[in-house]
Amino acid sequence: MRFFVSYSHSCLKQKALSLSKNLNLELFDHFKIDDIASFSNDYFLVCTSERLILKKGLKKNLKPIFSNFDDWATNYNDELLKKALKGLPKQFSCLDVTAGFGKDSLEISKLNHCRSITLLEKASWMYSLLEDGLENVYSGEAKQLTKKFSLRNTDNLTFLNSSKKKYDLIYIDPMFYGVQKSKAKKHMQALRDLSSDEAQKGLLRESLNCAKFRVIVKRHKHMSYLDDEAPTRSIKGKVVRFDIYNII
Ligand SMILES: C[S@@+](CC[C@H](N)C(=O)[O-])C[C@H]1O[C@@H](n2cnc3c(N)ncnc32)[C@H](O)[C@@H]1O
Repeated sequence: MRFFVSYSHSCLKQKALSLSKNLNLELFDHFKIDDIASFSNDYFLVCTSERLILKKGLKKNLKPIFSNFDDWATNYNDELLKKALKGLPKQFSCLDVTAGFGKDSLEISKLNHCRSITLLEKASWMYSLLEDGLENVYSGEAKQLTKKFSLRNTDNLTFLNSSKKKYDLIYIDPMFYGVQKSKAKKHMQALRDLSSDEAQKGLLRESLNCAKFRVIVKRHKHMSYLDDEAPTRSIKGKVVRFDIYNII
């Protein structure tokens, strides 16, 4: 599997070139390639006239992968996560230390008493997609929610170690390695394929030090507790489990 930056129209070549340099990924000029099928397992960050998208392979009919805040604002509802969020204080602040596409952060932002969410994302290519998703929000609903967001392209442990601020809620969604690989949705499958398989020791401890009220960890239902630390309680769904660590 390889990972390239590409573009949908020749007028976007300079933009793609600059992105490829920033992300240290090879620029791919598919206008010169005949054998599109031989790239079906490779990933492409494509600069299009509308937005930045991620694609696996180069076939035209493939669904683009991106932070689709407009769709998620109205057509997505994570009841299990909502249960895990019950009882948070008024005007709570949240730190999402594993932002990814920002879908879970958007869900958290739907609570009226959520004041702000800081999203941390280490992988620069993912951060570019997230940032671009935010810049291209057009619906009123999604604009209302994402105005609570502030993004940081940084390593979460580095951030937590140096943070002077505490957050009411810290949300952690580490990658699910070794479970249900074939059933992952395309966004999560792409993240798994493109991320390095590294467990982060100490993330829970640092999060507990930096949280005022609660830490929530999303796990696959068959996974052990993060850092082997038992939560205050868990909420289980068909596939995932939310481990809730209450501070007070
Ligand atoms: C399972 S995904 C999170 C998905 C996210 N909850 C969503 O709704 O899209 C985990 C994310 O954490 C990011 N990540 C991994 N290690 C990190 C680190 N040390 N600091 C910040 N982000 C990290 C990965 O790049 C990946 O995007």
